Amino acid sequence: MEPVKIGLLGLGTVGGGTVTVLTRNAREIERRAGRGIEMARAAAKAFDPTRIQGLEIIRQIGDDAFAVVNDPEIQVVIELIGGYSPARELVLTAIANGKHVVTANKALIARHGNEIFAAARERGVMVGFEAAVAGGIPIIKALREGLAANHIEWIAGIINGTGNFILTEMRDEGRDFAAVLAEAQALGYAEADPTFDVEGIDAAHKLTILGSLAFGIPLQFERCFTEGISGVGAMDVAYAADLGYRIKHLGIARRSSGGIELRVHPTLIPERRLIANVDGVMNAVLIKGDAVGPTLYYGAGAGALPTASAVVADLVDVVRTLTTDPNNRVPHLAFQPDELTDTPVLPMESVETAYYLRLSARDQPGVMASIASILGEQGISIEAIQQKEPAEGETHVHLVMLIHRVVEGRMNQAISRIEALDTVQGAVTRIRMEALSG
Ligand code: HSE
Repeated sequence: MEPVKIGLLGLGTVGGGTVTVLTRNAREIERRAGRGIEMARAAAKAFDPTRIQGLEIIRQIGDDAFAVVNDPEIQVVIELIGGYSPARELVLTAIANGKHVVTANKALIARHGNEIFAAARERGVMVGFEAAVAGGIPIIKALREGLAANHIEWIAGIINGTGNFILTEMRDEGRDFAAVLAEAQALGYAEADPTFDVEGIDAAHKLTILGSLAFGIPLQFERCFTEGISGVGAMDVAYAADLGYRIKHLGIARRSSGGIELRVHPTLIPERRLIANVDGVMNAVLIKGDAVGPTLYYGAGAGALPTASAVVADLVDVVRTLTTDPNNRVPHLAFQPDELTDTPVLPMESVETAYYLRLSARDQPGVMASIASILGEQGISIEAIQQKEPAEGETHVHLVMLIHRVVEGRMNQAISRIEALDTVQGAVTRIRMEALSG
């Protein structure tokens, strides 16, 4: 049988890794796919040929990505350019031309996935996006196929390697935020715009995708609550450790009585949980299904070869199913398209969670009582409270509190009232807290 002809868009970190994997493992991939794969064409604006092993087997390399998606010979387009545009236009053109698409572009899928999947259904082509979430971990496959029997209750994931690397280095080495970020950029982990990593936007893209696959809802990136790690101080990392917790930047998707929670924020989790011990650039996703219970998926969430592993796995899937009836393929968002529901994504004010609070209060009688009374009036229950020793000559002390689960809107009101006390200095630091128990 003729080999399948692919067109590659982008020869950066992931593009280069994909060429290397397809070259290095060509025979095994062919034995799995049932057909050879020919890298017929690639387009890239700029790339370093010395860094890409196997580049010589690409028949034609140019800089015009639209020429690739309009080439009648190409059957599958692999989009590894990233970003919203021109990736969206390129993918939609490829689909309109009847080509299957594989992409690692989480931003594209989170924002434009509904449109892209509708176009793909119309044309009867596949769109694979395994590499879009958690790099080399086959989490889309696990959620869409391996866990298909389950009613998914919640997902909690460390799905941004750069952010996890920064938090790990801050905790273990006491290193400076900026220096660690620069190292993640040099290693090729960080996004083109690193605020996407630090402010949680990259994680929100990935969580949006996981939430849709888990709960059968359309992709709704704009409804995902996003808080970054730039506000997490070394002091909070240390206080959390004293209390038996680690701070991780988690993406959490949960089914609750009023709707679906989709939220990315720094989170205290008990240090004994396996996921609390996922360090450095590694990713992990914990999924709780009603039948299987909790399952944990761990691995490299970024990098050339791990991400290429997911890209090529999608390509093998596409090649295997090229001739199947389009209506009998695995649905893009796990549920049949006409079975997606309009279950609302909850606003953050309606989400219930536990909290870590840190505040600076004047060291005088009655201060603690006034704070406790505000919390009591709001119906908020304190789980633990610690007053730290004041530094020599200091008039204020740090109070650290763990708060039982309460609706965020009520917590917001209490925090505003506490911040208005003239015995409290500055803003209250609030970090959400999850038990993640099975
Ligand atoms: N910037 C991302 C990360 C790359 O650090 O996880 C993988 O999506």
